[in-house]
Amino acid sequence: MVKKSGTLPYGRQSIDDSDVAAVTRALRSPFLTQGPLVAEFERALCTYTGAKYAVAVANGTAALHLAVAALGLKKGSSGITSPITFVASANALVYNGIKPVFADIDPVTANMSLAALARAVGKDTRVIIPVHFAGRSAAMKEIAAIAASKKSFVIEDAAHAIGSRYPDGGRVGNCAYADMTTFSFHPVKMITTGEGGAVMTNDKGLYDRLCSLRSHGIVRGPALMKNVPGPWYYEMQELGFNYRLTDIQAALGLSQLKKIGRFLLRRRAIVARYNKAFKGLSWLRPLAGDGPSCAHHLYVVRIDFKKLRMSRRVFMESLAALGVGSQVHYIPVYRQPFYSRNFKVAGRAFPQAEKYYEQCLSLPLFPAMKDKDVEKVIAAVLG
Ligand SMILES: Cc1ncc(COP(=O)(O)O)c(C=O)c1O
Repeated sequence: MVKKSGTLPYGRQSIDDSDVAAVTRALRSPFLTQGPLVAEFERALCTYTGAKYAVAVANGTAALHLAVAALGLKKGSSGITSPITFVASANALVYNGIKPVFADIDPVTANMSLAALARAVGKDTRVIIPVHFAGRSAAMKEIAAIAASKKSFVIEDAAHAIGSRYPDGGRVGNCAYADMTTFSFHPVKMITTGEGGAVMTNDKGLYDRLCSLRSHGIVRGPALMKNVPGPWYYEMQELGFNYRLTDIQAALGLSQLKKIGRFLLRRRAIVARYNKAFKGLSWLRPLAGDGPSCAHHLYVVRIDFKKLRMSRRVFMESLAALGVGSQVHYIPVYRQPFYSRNFKVAGRAFPQAEKYYEQCLSLPLFPAMKDKDVEKVIAAVLG
């Protein structure tokens, strides 16, 4: 629960006694890691999303890293993602020796713009990584068509979007329009495992590869091994990683997933209250493009700081002085020194991302917020 005198963060976990009991049971079980709960959590993720396979991993970044790795793309080919995302979406390309390319955003949703994507795809494009920003479903059907025309793979970065639905009603993560979908279970996300993530897919070949890469590139079982000299034997067939999730984390994930419906409803109710309170302001407008199918990971507003006659820094400090945290999601990835140094992408190529970055601010949004916390945020914003 939120401390009375504490500052409200922009997001945080919602943990109750049933979560604590689930983790305690796992701690008392014979397995702390690689026990039955990871597989149970993976099955629950499949049931929830409708995908055939889930591979639970150490965090959302590992999920993206493995998803790109599982495609086995030629080094030097390129991948496209949104510039308005956490750095991990692009880093996953770089880890795998794939050149990151950014496509400007749509000003309404802050998702990658289809027109910009169509301009960005080229003969080297092998993978497209749309991000369902703040829970707004990307236009997956259209993105899948663009990808198919270039024989490119699609990996959805759904770190913000477990619980969101596509326009056709299917749950994000069912992989109807993508080769793989990745989730993050970081504490600010819709459900948490502490650190944690997952890759969803409907492709058995990708699933086997992801399982192997998650655990050092090691395979077990006669169907996958080249030799079977005895029961002790396992084979490392490629260079993989230790990106496993523990049973302790899976216990928390299972318990959290049972409550996701309630979490989503609470997020929606808070968003509705904010939208009502901020309606008609000339200097602030909530990011649009959400609607009933959005899981609302973040509550993002766009502020005309010139009209407000206050800089973002001063506004954030004035909110903080009233116990209200806020954050910027995100600094365009191409602006990060690592990217500008190594990939020479110019800001002027992304006018919408630049404009959005000037104006965006995320206000507190998480299911454990009380009504009085919500009113405190509104009062602080309205000054
Ligand atoms: C869009 C996006 N992708 C990937 C990640 C990475 O997830 P994790 O923090 O679990 O590694 C995040 C986390 O903030 C994210 O917001």
